[in-house]
Amino acid sequence: MSAEEQDKAFVWHPFTPDQPWRDPAYRLPVIVRGEGPYLWDQEGRRYWDGNASIWTNVHGHRHPRVVAAIREQLDRIDHVSFLGLTHPWAVELAERLSAIAAGESGRRYRAFFSDDGATAIEAAVKIAWQYFQQNGQPERDRFLCLGESYHGDTVGAMSVAQSRFHRIFEGLRFPSASILPPACYRCPFNRAPAGSRDARLDRRCAWECVRTLEEALDRHGDRVAALVIEPKVQAAAGMWMHPEGYLRELDRLCRERGILWIADEVFTGIGRLGEWLACRREGAFPDLLCLAKGLSGGMTPLAATLVREEIYGGFTGGKGRAFLHGHSYTANPIGCAAALATLALFEEEAVFERTARAAEALGALSRRFWRHPHVGDVRQEGLVLAVELVERREDRAPFPAEREVAFRVCERARAHGLLTRPIGDVLVLIPPLCATTGDLAGMVGALERALWEELP
Ligand SMILES: Cc1ncc(COP(=O)(O)O)c(C=O)c1O
Repeated sequence: MSAEEQDKAFVWHPFTPDQPWRDPAYRLPVIVRGEGPYLWDQEGRRYWDGNASIWTNVHGHRHPRVVAAIREQLDRIDHVSFLGLTHPWAVELAERLSAIAAGESGRRYRAFFSDDGATAIEAAVKIAWQYFQQNGQPERDRFLCLGESYHGDTVGAMSVAQSRFHRIFEGLRFPSASILPPACYRCPFNRAPAGSRDARLDRRCAWECVRTLEEALDRHGDRVAALVIEPKVQAAAGMWMHPEGYLRELDRLCRERGILWIADEVFTGIGRLGEWLACRREGAFPDLLCLAKGLSGGMTPLAATLVREEIYGGFTGGKGRAFLHGHSYTANPIGCAAALATLALFEEEAVFERTARAAEALGALSRRFWRHPHVGDVRQEGLVLAVELVERREDRAPFPAEREVAFRVCERARAHGLLTRPIGDVLVLIPPLCATTGDLAGMVGALERALWEELP
């Protein structure tokens, strides 16, 4: 049996319907090598990793600096429990992440390590809950989140989200209140003229998103434990990008009311938007901050929930007050070594300066998508590009879901050497940060070609 046949016989992939995947005619790329922004399949075909291996890869595949850090770590240690023990790499990483989270603010954050984005969120939600339960405000038992938000697939993470991916699990979720997402292109109050290319028309905007947020905070007020948000970009919703100023207002409104807020920077953190954190773009400081995906450079599962020191203070005072949560691979030393090397590379290779230039180049290249009549919106933040396909640009009418147009475009893009995965009818390009201008031009060209082939 070939690897492909074995896969179809024995493996179950995430978010993968059995058709066309199990169809013998459907070719499943078997990836056997990665380097920089490229992946190779077993037939030797080279692809651009156009979604950074589901948004995890930072400096490129097998960056020698990160590989060396992992090798050196393996010569010392593989794994050790973090229950009542510690190791220097977790300690150093926690201090480094605290500094990143605090910026110049003088705040201090404490790191609780886990493995994935969803586990970082689970920990954050449970920390917020337990904090109020044991510190005299047990009535704070509600969570708020944005419409179409996504924070991972475990039950707690699903419960503090409103994702279309989770409708079937509705009865399994604990309820949370949903707030109008500040997603301009799909905003019901959008006043941009029909067919306009600029969905973010601040001049005409009356900031209904902030008003409804304020109303929700007032309505739920003293009952709210925490509000959970993906700052700046709601990734799984379809790369919905928030207007400048929203996060600053959210930070202010929550702080005024003593409501904790949890920033889910699982996708946006560690350089994806051109800075360490999306929150930093608006000078906002969350009470809890979740990191995963790029934290280890995309090399190993590693996540961190960073918590303001004042909240940690609510867990001191003896055995009965400890945070009752943990995972076997908490603070895995190999992951921590990969993360330390990943973070160091940002300075060593002047990555923020380079990505600023790359983002500018990507912005210029992406204007070409507007030539296509079924492109409704082209939006970008840092090295995140989203191209939303619509049946009619004039009224933003979507294609019937069963046509799966964006999925088909991405299937065609594969033949042009690009691997990426759409979200609904949104095409995305999220390259590793090491992608050169030439790589970006190649990726945009491949996607554009595939788009015209699918929708001539
Ligand atoms: C914003 C956000 N939060 C959480 C998650 C869940 O992360 P993981 O898949 O590592 O559990 C994702 C995954 O895409 C995400 O985009």
